[in-house]
Amino acid sequence: MNRIEALYSLIDINDNVVDVGCDQAKLSLMLANRNQSSIACDISENVINRAKKSIDSPLIDLRVSNGLSNIKEEEADTLVLAGMGTHTILEILNNTKLRFKKIITISNNYHDILREKMNTLNYKVDSELIIYENDKYYNLIKFIEGNRQYTKKELLLGLNHIDKQLYKEYLNYLLKKYENIKLSSKDNNPKIYEMIEAIKNTNI
Ligand SMILES: C[S@@+](CC[C@H](N)C(=O)[O-])C[C@H]1O[C@@H](n2cnc3c(N)ncnc32)[C@H](O)[C@@H]1O
Repeated sequence: MNRIEALYSLIDINDNVVDVGCDQAKLSLMLANRNQSSIACDISENVINRAKKSIDSPLIDLRVSNGLSNIKEEEADTLVLAGMGTHTILEILNNTKLRFKKIITISNNYHDILREKMNTLNYKVDSELIIYENDKYYNLIKFIEGNRQYTKKELLLGLNHIDKQLYKEYLNYLLKKYENIKLSSKDNNPKIYEMIEAIKNTNI
């Protein structure tokens, strides 16, 4: 399963989806294939113009929008934010009054900060999915409305992983990565030690 297929697998047929940062609108194309309409938007006018040239579906509403600024209330209940960093994701959510029943993220960094800050916005982790695509691991997180207490380990490594085998492979990859950083690094960033300890204390 690639990243777009993974996003698709977590979207129900009745969800009203807005994909922010859609780029080529691949997710919306998959949804349109099963007759599901969606909004696909991007901050870049070039990106949207290019998509409009190649996509001709009444089910895909292509828009220029910085974050959710061009999305109105009631237009969507499911938000996808994939292929951007945690700080951009949080900025987009901090700059809107819109609420969603489901938010699916694929951030490329600081997943612990994302889990923690989403909690303060009243979105909690429902499930997570590790994806391996083009020699890289990606961490998809499905948030739903609500609030919960996380352990340190849950904040660092996530919880409720759907694919346990890929999660195991991801942890092995992370362990090697952080052991190497520990060996080569001159600074003593506590996060490196916390990650190593959290992984070693995980039984899956
Ligand atoms: C790496 S692409 C990811 C494309 C697709 N979502 C995916 O996961 O394959 C990131 C996209 O996000 C868009 N983007 C970045 N910041 C944005 C923002 N604040 N609002 C809307 N789109 C944004 C970029 O223009 C770019 O097209």
